[in-house]
Amino acid sequence: MLVSSVVGARPNFMKIAPVVRELLQRGVPHLFVHTGQHYDESMSRVFFQELEMPRPDVDLNVGSQTHARQTAQILVGIEEVFQQRRPDLVVVGGDVNSTAAVALVAAKLGIPVAHVEAGLRSFDRSMPEEINRVVTDHLSDLLFTTEESANANLEREGLGQRGVHLVGNCMVDTLRRHVDAAIAREPWRDFGLDPGEYAILTLHRPSNVDDMKALGALLGTIAVASRRIPVLFPVHPRTRRRLEELGRPIAGDLRLTDPLPYLRFLGLLARARLVLTDSGGIQEETTALGVPCLTLRANTERPVTVSHGTNRIVGTERSRVLGAVERVLLGDWPPGVSPPLWDGRAGRRLVDVIEAFLERRAA
Ligand code: UD1
Repeated sequence: MLVSSVVGARPNFMKIAPVVRELLQRGVPHLFVHTGQHYDESMSRVFFQELEMPRPDVDLNVGSQTHARQTAQILVGIEEVFQQRRPDLVVVGGDVNSTAAVALVAAKLGIPVAHVEAGLRSFDRSMPEEINRVVTDHLSDLLFTTEESANANLEREGLGQRGVHLVGNCMVDTLRRHVDAAIAREPWRDFGLDPGEYAILTLHRPSNVDDMKALGALLGTIAVASRRIPVLFPVHPRTRRRLEELGRPIAGDLRLTDPLPYLRFLGLLARARLVLTDSGGIQEETTALGVPCLTLRANTERPVTVSHGTNRIVGTERSRVLGAVERVLLGDWPPGVSPPLWDGRAGRRLVDVIEAFLERRAA
């Protein structure tokens, strides 16, 4: 028996870490592969150390390319690995290019695929992640979901008869495991900030950062908000490039920094007064932490963060963003409750299902 877990980009690491830990603890033979989609120290390596993950057995080193080139290189590289090692199950997570590419190769080789964080849908095909989600789910044999809406989406797409399992949220497993240590480091001090008295901003979606006019307008809005509360802005490499192209100084109390390692970022999130983001994962992390989250997008694929959690979809229009910031500062924001099964034990439930699946196939 051999299970292969594959990661590629930053958000994958937190989702796969609890699965890898659980597999290794149970003595399941494991092949750990990194596609190399993210490769910077700050986007990749540091996460392996902090999340106590083993070094990958294989690194495909694909790096940054156009979508087609990146996907193509992963297809070619992973096919060779799987042909040589013939895993009995491949585990992929989330919705990045690596996820869909690896699922495609495994499915064509007849290797069952387990998708961690299946079934999420923004219903917005202009997002590359939405295409990756749909493709991956339709190629998967085990679909592990984080919220009820995902089960409903899979049912609607005719996938309800596959192995759909609502197991909870693996990223929240990782958060719960590390949050106390992350807070104890008091990372806000490095930026001259006080707990509860700063906002965090993250931006990397193509729809927000690739269009210079949209990016300039959004940063203008955030600059106004930062007159009310300082805004710490860890800048994704993609966004950094765009800011250089934009070439004008950013007004207000906006404090730019490089992408942060997991523990520093988690500690900062946990004590932020509010978070402004276009990330998917951060919507979930703020819900788990009970921190107000203003999502700078038109939609979310994670509706439970709105129905149960502290997330609100505010878009990017200036008056809506500033109005929402003001509401948070006035204390007019729902505290939220933890969604069902976001209890730190999703990885365990998930690997129970994997073990049963492998036993059935071996029988
Ligand atoms: C990818 C995922 C996105 C996820 C995000 C988290 C896809 C389609 N997108 O977007 O879903 O939310 O990761 O970060 O898979 N770069 C570096 N160093 C790195 C990685 C990237 O400098 O280690 C720069 C490169 O200039 C690259 C750009 O960032 O061209 C974009 O990287 P890429 O992996 O293509 O997409 P992300 O925007 O990171």
